[in-house]
Amino acid sequence: MTGIEILSTGSYLPPMTVTNDMMSQIVETDDEWISSRSGIRSRHFADGEDTSDMAVKSAREALESNNIDRSRIGVVIVATFTPDYMSPSIACIVQGKLGLPEDVIAFDMNGACSGFIYALNTARALLLTRPGKLALVVGSETISKVTDFAERSTCVLFGDGSGAVVVGSAENEYYFVSGAQGTTETIHCAGVRNLGNPFSENKATQPMHAVNMNGREVFRFAVESIQKCVKNLLAQANLKAEDISYFVCHQANKRILISASSKLGIPAEKFFMNLDHVGNTSAASIPIALDEMEKQGILKKGMKIICTGFGGGLVYGGLLFTV
Ligand code: ACO
Repeated sequence: MTGIEILSTGSYLPPMTVTNDMMSQIVETDDEWISSRSGIRSRHFADGEDTSDMAVKSAREALESNNIDRSRIGVVIVATFTPDYMSPSIACIVQGKLGLPEDVIAFDMNGACSGFIYALNTARALLLTRPGKLALVVGSETISKVTDFAERSTCVLFGDGSGAVVVGSAENEYYFVSGAQGTTETIHCAGVRNLGNPFSENKATQPMHAVNMNGREVFRFAVESIQKCVKNLLAQANLKAEDISYFVCHQANKRILISASSKLGIPAEKFFMNLDHVGNTSAASIPIALDEMEKQGILKKGMKIICTGFGGGLVYGGLLFTV
């Protein structure tokens, strides 16, 4: 089966590190509450950089760390729900700033915290139509610009950053699962302002420009969707959990990952986690985790991993592939 192989990875976390103690100067909270409820101890916030700036940096590192021939890049996809602009896409900014070939297909995808999974699966499909080409797939988010820093139950969970991978087609095992349960009730971020159509009775709107969510419902949905994705992918591949080296899930909350691992009967050590120092970076969390694994020497050729994402939409998605 034609799957993908990861040829290179990169990431970028902005230099501003904000600890839980620093968050406690903004809202009524403390390190004990945040770390015991989420596993997060610090996060990075962008200071003057936007989502495309971070995307360019992680993508550049992914291209340079393994000397990728830029002329071979045929697909550029950036997964984000916090783009700089409605248009142009961040993918086009990345293409322009990194001098990638003009004949690329370049676009952004909004799959919220499942965005990177959707982007990787889309890249795999597009590569089948572009023999010999490679795909640059990026997750990048500046969640601090859509965070209500007066709302303690959400502002302590998120961080900013970007991760990138370069992938090519390969005759590898590859399985995908996805689902959507459309609702705006559980998580919602109204970033788009209606400027007002002069021929309409409806007036311009200025919606609340911040993420809001029902934490308990997200928690339940997240634990269920990880289980659903893992079981589905193992069944499709006719494999057992023991055959999988690592489960690299969206880094939303340590308790979500521990709860899913225990319900699946899979040791928590097989669930890679870096959210203690990164926080929840939505679509960027999985590629940042993959890059950290690569830099720590954890990712090895031939290893099978499962990645799962879950988040606003509500959407979920998972991939089983060979590194
Ligand atoms: N510090 C101190 N106390 C707080 C804080 C805080 N930062 N936030 C909330 N509290 C208080 C609440 O006000 C409440 O007080 P009350 O009992 O007096 O009313 C109390 O803590 C308990 O609140 P709960 O919401 O019941 O706390 P819970 O144990 O459910 O934890 C949390 C909240 C961490 C948000 C949890 O529900 C969760 O992790 N949900 C998943 C959310 C998530 O990961 N979202 C990621 C974004 S979407 C995505 O990426 C998929």
